[in-house]
Amino acid sequence: MELTDTFGRTINYLRLSVTDRCNMRCVYCMPAEGLPLRSHREILSYEDLLSIARTAVSLGIEKIRVTGGEPLVRKGILGFLAQLAETPGLRQLVLTTNALHLAEMAESLKFAGVQRLNISLDSLKPATFSAITRGADVSRVMAGIDAAERAGFPLKINMVVMNGINDDEILDFVAMTMDRAVTVRFIEYMPAIKATDWESRVVPGDTILERIAERFSFKSEARESLAGPARIFSVDGAAGTFGIISPVTGHFCEECNRIRVTAAGRARSCLFSDREVDLKPFLAIGDDRALAAALRQVVTFKPRRHLLTEAEQQFTPFAMAALGG
Ligand SMILES: C[S@@+](CC[C@H](N)C(=O)[O-])C[C@H]1O[C@@H](n2cnc3c(N)ncnc32)[C@H](O)[C@@H]1O
Ligand code: SF4
Repeated sequence: MELTDTFGRTINYLRLSVTDRCNMRCVYCMPAEGLPLRSHREILSYEDLLSIARTAVSLGIEKIRVTGGEPLVRKGILGFLAQLAETPGLRQLVLTTNALHLAEMAESLKFAGVQRLNISLDSLKPATFSAITRGADVSRVMAGIDAAERAGFPLKINMVVMNGINDDEILDFVAMTMDRAVTVRFIEYMPAIKATDWESRVVPGDTILERIAERFSFKSEARESLAGPARIFSVDGAAGTFGIISPVTGHFCEECNRIRVTAAGRARSCLFSDREVDLKPFLAIGDDRALAAALRQVVTFKPRRHLLTEAEQQFTPFAMAALGG
């Protein structure tokens, strides 16, 4: 079975948010006071999340990324992941985390069947990291990365590059790939919350590459199957690789293969399109056929491309944590 959108793109990747709560408060993602708290009833149960996963895989989804908010703060997450990993036909189960709880959970995540981890890390400097996350301790994240490596996880480390905030660390992140077998991915800052200064914060992917080229000599690498829209490179002699993800200036959309479901059960075809389908009514009556039809419908909503760079942005500002970044 294959899911294809109106523009001929194959949709085989679902980002499934399990919570909109988080133990960090990254400045580009949510307000200092956090998001308005949703009651437990508003958030999808694990049973509902498993129904969505089974249905999506039966339609052609091959890869599921569990995200949030911070997925590792939800109670019972390990048991849920173990069940999710058993979904018949699912080829890849991966998870995105800020790694604050990873030191103590890495081995259990591996045991549960998670195949790969993406870790968000925007600075190696304690003060900068604390400023970006409004108070988190980078040494806990580094301990999490160490534990995940020991547990045998292939790791991607995602850095959102922000002009004047952490762009002075690009080369330090590339240097990390010299002796660690990780993929560091530089991501353009996106105007999710429509901060007034957002354009001045974006460092274009090509500029990031130029800066890296001033210090390192590197070559292009092939992308793995079911990979996201990153261009991947490796420095000569490095243990790891690095990548550039350019949602703002690049051709992100042509190769987009994903849909997402928020923790509150709303399916969405694109971060930057407000058209959603509420899956909760179908989950409430246990109607798997209607659920499948709803997921197909959301795929038909997928726009050709986002309007991020257009003078007239056509989306409502959102906290990435609420949509499942
Ligand atoms: C919303 S978080 C959810 C998972 C987990 N809490 C974490 O931080 O890895 C997922 C990713 O979205 C990214 N993100 C959030 N807001 C962003 C923005 N405005 N531009 C680019 N990336 C953003 C974060 O850096 C993070 O890597
Ligand atoms: S980016 Fe991730 S860690 Fe940071 S506030 Fe958003 S959900 Fe939390």
